[in-house]
Amino acid sequence: MSNKVALVTGSNKGIGFAVVHALCKNFAGDVFLSARDVGRGTAAVESLKTEGLNPLFHRLDINDPASVRCARDFFKEKYGGLDVLINNAAIAFKGRVVNVSSVMSSFALKNCSSELQARFRSDDITEEELVMLMEKFVQEAQKGEHTQKGWPNTAYGVSKLGLTVLSRIEARRLRKERPRDQILLNACCPGWVRTDMAGPNATKSPDEGAVTPVYLALLPPGVSEPHGQFVSEKQVQVW
Ligand SMILES: NC(=O)c1ccc[n+]([C@@H]2O[C@H](COP(=O)([O-])OP(=O)(O)OC[C@H]3O[C@@H](n4cnc5c(N)ncnc54)[C@H](OP(=O)(O)O)[C@@H]3O)[C@@H](O)[C@H]2O)c1
Repeated sequence: MSNKVALVTGSNKGIGFAVVHALCKNFAGDVFLSARDVGRGTAAVESLKTEGLNPLFHRLDINDPASVRCARDFFKEKYGGLDVLINNAAIAFKGRVVNVSSVMSSFALKNCSSELQARFRSDDITEEELVMLMEKFVQEAQKGEHTQKGWPNTAYGVSKLGLTVLSRIEARRLRKERPRDQILLNACCPGWVRTDMAGPNATKSPDEGAVTPVYLALLPPGVSEPHGQFVSEKQVQVW
């Protein structure tokens, strides 16, 4: 169980694929490409193999708790855990954790009411309160009341706002409850990247979009910062 291991969720294409590509070249250990669809995932692995790279594959659908548990058990048994996890916000492992959020989370924050902004910036918000607020947004949006209740008019932005705030909460818990494990957990924005999600007019290539997530994944041992931050262009941003 001595091999180091990195896992990138949703990495059969787009930024995740570019992150796997960069980690295969720069990470001293096994790199797992994962996808919810085995066919798409193994095709992506094969395309990297034609470049002489050697990623491994594990199926993972982050919306399916059984699939998440199966991956957790696999990595625990085979490697004793994960050294680097890119994208999965739900489970804290020993190692580097990078949540690919978006600058849209900051825009969404700035367009919230001052009461909501204060909660999302606070150092005492809990995961339970965050989940309650996210559920409130969904209910109020379904009734068409979300803007008058102080929410911005963007589901994507609020989901990324939730991810950035969750990253801050988890980072605070790690520092308090497991300081000796020296786990660094951050949220980041990859920039505006030419993928199926953002389309062909975006300014960055997938490899350029992978730069900040890979930088956070490969922070050297012993450093204590950044942790619990929102990072863009390798720089900590004011939340
Ligand atoms: N592109 C941008 O400009 C930009 C900007 C800011 C933030 N981001 C963030 O960067 C991340 C990657 O985006 P991208 O632009 O690379 O998008 P993309 O090209 O659409 O790729 C998204 C990846 O996520 C996978 N995925 C979706 N649902 C999944 C699930 N339930 N379980 C496992 N995998 C799942 C997709 O797999 P399938 O092929 O099976 O659908 C695909 O591999 C996202 O979190 C996005 O919000 C992107």
